[in-house]
Amino acid sequence: MTFEKTILITGGAGFIGSHVVRLFVNKYPQYQIVNLDKLTYAGNLENLKDVDSNPNYKFEHGDIVDENYINELFGKYSFDGVIHLAAESHVDRSITDPMAFVKTNVIGTCNLLNAAKNTWKGNFEGKRFYHVSTDEVYGELHDPSEFFVETTSYDPRSPYSASKASSDHFVRAYHNTYGLPIVVSNCSNNYGPNHFPEKLIPLMINNIKNGKPLPVYGKGENVRDWLFVKDHARAIDNIFHDGRNGETYNIGGNNEWKNLDLVHLLCDLMDSRLEKEVGTSRNLITYVTDRAGHDLRYAIDATKLMNELGWEPSVTFEEGLAQTVDWYFDNWSWIENITSGDYQKYYTSMYENSSK
Ligand code: NAD
Ligand code: DAU
Repeated sequence: MTFEKTILITGGAGFIGSHVVRLFVNKYPQYQIVNLDKLTYAGNLENLKDVDSNPNYKFEHGDIVDENYINELFGKYSFDGVIHLAAESHVDRSITDPMAFVKTNVIGTCNLLNAAKNTWKGNFEGKRFYHVSTDEVYGELHDPSEFFVETTSYDPRSPYSASKASSDHFVRAYHNTYGLPIVVSNCSNNYGPNHFPEKLIPLMINNIKNGKPLPVYGKGENVRDWLFVKDHARAIDNIFHDGRNGETYNIGGNNEWKNLDLVHLLCDLMDSRLEKEVGTSRNLITYVTDRAGHDLRYAIDATKLMNELGWEPSVTFEEGLAQTVDWYFDNWSWIENITSGDYQKYYTSMYENSSK
């Protein structure tokens, strides 16, 4: 089969990556989509079971930190584009194991940049390296009237955000120094189906369902700007195809919530779904020691993306959260497979030392 383009998507078995892979595989049958994923604890091929037999989809099991492997992969396929999402993504884990973040997020990104540079050899027509990053690189906001814009100075404050900031700088350095055609996007907090249950929203949904304590860090006053994951995937599609070379685009939902208010909302939503008296689950809230260096507030100004590429969120927070809760109710086995560890047994036996 001949394809118009071959696109490498890294981290496609993770939360956001799986939505990007699904969107591209279904929307662009003329593209071959190669999903490269190490299948760490955060990678789950069950996320992609609805597309994994499509003729334009290929899975490659590998580690972006392994330079030789990455060079071989770029030799095996002739990639026209790279959409790079693979990362260690959880702030709390970066506090306990920062080096894992340096390896994957910094060295892994540099391996991909080098492989693209050495393969494309200055022949950049029709080529694009898209680096998916986070709003956390900008640090934290205090003044309620302030928002992160694309020119906000970097001020990362956790090992996770420092590693993502470093990778962003390398991507831009490869553009400036070697002319590598790049785009970068910095997105706010995502939520939606397939969100790994170590992150706030799915953790709360799972604990409410099981009547377990709901750990709120500090006083629950930190603010996050939440975006439905499918809207992030749509933005990535727009930017990959129509974003200007060398540019950065902020992506956000203009949807700020204090953590405690969000947990209250989830409790009440879940109480209705579980046919409990509304207010019952709020009793599970437990205030725990704050995250070290906990950023106070993130808030994205996505005007550039909206004005230049016409992107806007397709769902309100109420709609997106209702869809998310519905998805978890329809897929409790997905989360149970994760908490029991069964999801890893499945793929390690299937993909150990092999590729599909
Ligand atoms: P995730 O943790 O759910 O998934 C990461 C994926 O990368 C997993 O499938 C994992 O197996 C894979 N991976 C990790 N290390 C790898 C390695 N060394 N080699 C190959 N694959 C590896 O992450 P996510 O939440 O889907 O985030 C995806 C990207 O989007 C990340 O770059 C993250 O920084 C960025 N981002 C996330 C959010 C968010 O709210 N989750 C917001 C903005 C930006
Ligand atoms: O802003 C984008 C970032 O959003 C992404 O780059 C990260 O990959 C992603 O993990 C997310 O980071 P956060 O640290 O904001 O997400 P998390 O879900 O871990 O926490 C959201 C907020 O909830 C944060 O203020 C910490 C708080 N929290 C989190 C957990 C897991 C709690 O109060 N209790 C918890 O148990």
